[in-house]
Amino acid sequence: MPIVTIKPSGKTIEVASGTTLLAAAMSAGEMIEHKCDGKAQCGSCHVYVLEGRKSVSRITPTENAKLDTIIGIGSKSRLACQVHVGEEDVTFELLSFASGF
Ligand code: FES
Repeated sequence: MPIVTIKPSGKTIEVASGTTLLAAAMSAGEMIEHKCDGKAQCGSCHVYVLEGRKSVSRITPTENAKLDTIIGIGSKSRLACQVHVGEEDVTFELLSFASGF
């Protein structure tokens, strides 16, 4: 099973393929905003996927539309609730600044 590494704490958690980054972070005990409960509507779960981007699920039009409204997005930006882990390990970064509002 793939291993998800969460920055900046460096916590790791082994998850089943198909698990979202939001679920992985919560299972690892990380504090992560998720105000719309994973519906790609709030943008509060904005993260940077640093490694393993090619093995995670692709950005959907809904996620892309929400990302476009967030200040501070970059090429590594994703919504943690919309990213499903594939077969490879993933490293992502929780963002310390508020975004998506
Ligand atoms: S929890 Fe709201 S966009 Fe991810």
